Amino acid sequence: MFLKFKKNKKEPLVAQTLIDFPSEVFVAGGEELNLREATIADIPGLVAIEEAVYNGYAPWISRDFYHELTQEKDRLYLVAQKKDQVIAFIALVRRDLAADLHIANLAVLPIWQGRSIGSYLINTAKAIAREVGLGSISLEARRSNDGALSLYDRQGFMVVDVIANYYVDNREDAISMVLDLEH
Ligand SMILES: CC(C)(COP(=O)(O)OP(=O)(O)OC[C@H]1O[C@@H](n2cnc3c(N)ncnc32)[C@H](O)[C@@H]1OP(=O)(O)O)[C@@H](O)C(=O)NCCC(=O)NCCS
Repeated sequence: MFLKFKKNKKEPLVAQTLIDFPSEVFVAGGEELNLREATIADIPGLVAIEEAVYNGYAPWISRDFYHELTQEKDRLYLVAQKKDQVIAFIALVRRDLAADLHIANLAVLPIWQGRSIGSYLINTAKAIAREVGLGSISLEARRSNDGALSLYDRQGFMVVDVIANYYVDNREDAISMVLDLEH
């Protein structure tokens, strides 16, 4: 495995080994946004998004993001940025045994929702999975998360399992979904 460590004044230490993702500009809702790899300097922004989308309760706190961003595993965290503000992110984890790319987390700041940013991030995940030769993309969503579930359904994900009591905060079931990229 090749590890990619980055350390300079602008970009603090981060180990993300899934793929080298060059920054890109994309347009959502008529606004130009920047999409780039996350660094640990983004952690406060990531937690702020979590708090904003989950009513003040961040399922992932700073320590979790720090652990994720610095461990030497096949991860890729991408952040969408407008000016200095991180407004959305997607967390991707490569699962080699299953030849699968797992979406571990995805969130868009409420005022930016509904402008196709979530769709763009999923489409980016699809392109990355294809580029690195993975055959599927998987994720879990709360049973009550109608918006996310319908988005994934429209993106071609199929329900493959229901995992009872998956979420520790309220023992809610998880809907497990997979997108097959090979057929
Ligand atoms: C789910 C989420 C990432 C979608 O991001 P987004 O940028 O709003 O998604 P898009 O603008 O690409 O929307 C795509 C479609 O999903 C629909 N949608 C998105 N969020 C929705 C919601 N909360 N309720 C109903 N529909 C929703 C949009 O209407 C849109 O439908 P359309 O294509 O027919 O117009 C975003 O709503 C979010 O951050 N939610 C809170 C965190 C979360 O639930 N994350 C997913 C965990 S599994």
